Amino acid sequence: MIARGSSSSRLSSALVRSLAVLGVVSHTSGCAPPPPDGVSQELWDLCRDDLHLNARDCQTVARFRLPEALPVARGNRYADDERAARLGRAIFYDEGFANVPDVSCARCHAPERAFTDGMAVSEVIAGMPGARNSPSLLVSGRLSGFFLWDGRADSLWSQPLGALENPIEMGTTRLEIAHRVADVPTYREPYEAIFGALPSLEDEARFPPVGMPGQPSWEGMSEPDRDAVNRVVANVGKALEAYMRRIVSGPSALDRYLDGDRDAMSPDARRGLARFVETGCTGCHVGPMLTDQSFHAGREMHDRGRAQGIETLLASPFNAAGPYFDADAGEALELPLGPEASDEHAFRTPSLRNVTLTAPYEHDGSRTLAQILEARSLLYREGDERVIGAFFEALVGEAPPAEWASAP
Ligand code: HEC
Ligand code: HEC
Repeated sequence: MIARGSSSSRLSSALVRSLAVLGVVSHTSGCAPPPPDGVSQELWDLCRDDLHLNARDCQTVARFRLPEALPVARGNRYADDERAARLGRAIFYDEGFANVPDVSCARCHAPERAFTDGMAVSEVIAGMPGARNSPSLLVSGRLSGFFLWDGRADSLWSQPLGALENPIEMGTTRLEIAHRVADVPTYREPYEAIFGALPSLEDEARFPPVGMPGQPSWEGMSEPDRDAVNRVVANVGKALEAYMRRIVSGPSALDRYLDGDRDAMSPDARRGLARFVETGCTGCHVGPMLTDQSFHAGREMHDRGRAQGIETLLASPFNAAGPYFDADAGEALELPLGPEASDEHAFRTPSLRNVTLTAPYEHDGSRTLAQILEARSLLYREGDERVIGAFFEALVGEAPPAEWASAP
């Protein structure tokens, strides 16, 4: 920490407080009031002298500070196992897990593009674009609510199967995934060391080479055999989550500012922070990830968003109520009972950490920052785009360690 977070100012305000108690000075007589709950003296000084924010808004800003620890990985007892992270890394970059040429997870979540694909919506088969923008995985391991734009996953490990079995993303099936893990020794060995013995998949009559729900090869299998395969793919997801927890970004200039280092942010960025609060962005972009991790309807008229997401989530055997959720690892999110009217066309508030690295914006990649400001800010005024843009620069976190953020 920096010299300016001076112990003398802390001392003098403590002195003022004790003098106030003695009735020697009064808080209302022009002396500085003490910091509100949850706000350090250093930040309180900055809130008043630099940002001109009231106590409540200063508390909102204090809650932006990035915690060091990651949230508990719900339902994944392997999330912090380094061997699982290494296995997950190998799978993440392996094009052998897709039936679409040259596609691995990294195709749409490229480390050199902040783990996005830089496109408005992902398109790995020419002429067959998806409907959604690929989010940056630099923040996923730090989120603790429902995942994806529509919240159709209630844990990070249960999410990758959607991409793997999506015909316009990776185009594979869960039976192919399980066979590949069993057939490739560099997967088989670490898998069994971490998760225990694989089922014996050699009998083709019981375990066809290809198949997923909805396909006759899968529907014809016995319930216990389907369960055994589901367990393998759930574990693949758990290894991928362990990997994604290694590639999160670290603290940014904003965090250094919140620790009391005024010069960590440029004057424009500091004005942008104040405008961000004053114009009401913190109605939804709150907390350390600058998101309420909740869902809001806006301009979208076609994509059902959260409403469809809830239906998919409730139907998934990989949700927190299913048999693959490790009950001893974190508490499950409460499953919704079903979509309500307010869930129609609603999307998750995205984290704004690293936001300058992840354009174009919003669920369908159709928005620029200027358009978002115009749509969201009732108090928009000249210069906001520049200063809020500068504030966003201060949200770029330390890059994850290179030994993780790259192909093995
Ligand atoms: C064809 C491009 C593509 C591929 C390949 C792909 N993804 Fe994605 N990914 C996306 C898109 C698009 C979304 C947003 C989808 C949505 O929310 O509906 C997404 C969302 C995610 C999310 C949610 C992040 C969050 O914060 O909610 C995670 C995690 C993720 N992908 C991980 C993976 C992993 C792991 C793989 C490999 C198994 C993978 N993706 C393969 C395009 C892709
Ligand atoms: C009512 C809640 C709410 C408020 C208030 C709000 N936002 Fe958002 N913001 C969202 C949601 C929800 C999305 C995603 C919308 C979508 O994808 O359709 C979003 C998306 C964004 C994005 C795109 C990020 C990305 O990665 O795609 C930016 C940038 C953004 N908001 C900035 C702001 C700013 C600046 C303000 C204040 C002027 C603001 N927002 C106010 C809820 C809100």
